[in-house]
Amino acid sequence: MGHDLHHYLDCSATTPPAEAVLAAMQRCRAEAWANPSSLHGFGLRAAEQLERQRQRLAGLLGCQAGRVLFTSGGTESIHLALLGSCRGQTSGARVLLSSVEHPASLAAADQLRRWGMVVDLLPVDRQGRLDLERLQALLAPPTALVSVIWGQSEVGSVQPLERIGALCRAAGIPLHVDGVQMLGHRPISFDALPVDLMSLTAHKIQGPKGIGALLVRDGHSLEPLQGGGGQEGGLRAGTEPVELVTGFVEAVELRQRRLLDHGGVDPSSHLRDALLQRLLLHPGLELTGVDPRQGQAHQRLPHHLSLLARSPQGQPIAGRQLVQQLWRQGFAASSGSACSSGRQTPSPVLLAMGYGAEEAQAGMRISLGPWHGERLLEELPAAMARALQPFGF
Ligand SMILES: Cc1ncc(COP(=O)(O)O)c(C=O)c1O
Repeated sequence: MGHDLHHYLDCSATTPPAEAVLAAMQRCRAEAWANPSSLHGFGLRAAEQLERQRQRLAGLLGCQAGRVLFTSGGTESIHLALLGSCRGQTSGARVLLSSVEHPASLAAADQLRRWGMVVDLLPVDRQGRLDLERLQALLAPPTALVSVIWGQSEVGSVQPLERIGALCRAAGIPLHVDGVQMLGHRPISFDALPVDLMSLTAHKIQGPKGIGALLVRDGHSLEPLQGGGGQEGGLRAGTEPVELVTGFVEAVELRQRRLLDHGGVDPSSHLRDALLQRLLLHPGLELTGVDPRQGQAHQRLPHHLSLLARSPQGQPIAGRQLVQQLWRQGFAASSGSACSSGRQTPSPVLLAMGYGAEEAQAGMRISLGPWHGERLLEELPAAMARALQPFGF
């Protein structure tokens, strides 16, 4: 029990590669395995494949091919965006982040702090939405960069990118967006967004692990973080993994097609809403983050649910324990973000949203994939009820 994909509810952590992705990578491995920088025919074939994929990705994401940098994934893209944009900033320059960023952005911001920059974490409301007034008040010198997570991995909140971008544009301050969780769940047209940098990764959308991209607005100045062979326009040295790039772009196209087939809306949202409805019938469960059923669907990732469990006495139930109980019932979910689920500490994201320390250990996340269907509507609430029994229900 529990090893069929139907039971895998942790797509915000990662996803299994799609068959079409594996097939595209297999073809590439056979035909374009050489070093794209080599001058012979083998290399030329790899270079052509790489540039074809770059063009294809740029077409899918509405940006110019020359503005796509391939990286090893979200973490590296975020570091390149933040550190590469702030090299050479004077001490005391300020960077603004939301207080619900992914640990990768917080780690990059820590490095900026060590360089002498000031890092301000902007407050969010109880649903995890950025305080735009506070942002606007700080959009003046010495602020040099703003970085926000578009779709929050742990609680699913979606920030109003157009409004944030418009404020940053008006102040002439560049904006980096962590688009890792959003890619594949909403059509992205980079050139139409008031955004200067966007970090993406392949493995959350059934692409391979170890590949991602940083989209960089024309005219935005970026310094490389590593030297070497001068690949990616000198901004990201290292022999390009053409096979992973091919798998990444295939995955983006599959998701893009799925979105287009459903009028630009991720069809998982309907299943998610119905699931939420049923799960909340249990007296021990409450939702964290935005309720998508209350006309605010665009403010929550469409495949994402985050819950907090309490005992009949109202005591928060450790998310980790509930996840273990749910796994005994055959379903794989996550307690908070995958990166911190190895240890049980209060979630900084729930703390930032105003939850208490005990409540902030009681979060759990359910994130759906395209393969999930109506079958979940009966099976998951029943499994959840059984998983909650040891806690007094
Ligand atoms: C919002 C967000 N940003 C960044 C990352 C890091 O991406 P990657 O695993 O590709 O380094 C993740 C993945 O956990 C994420 O959810």
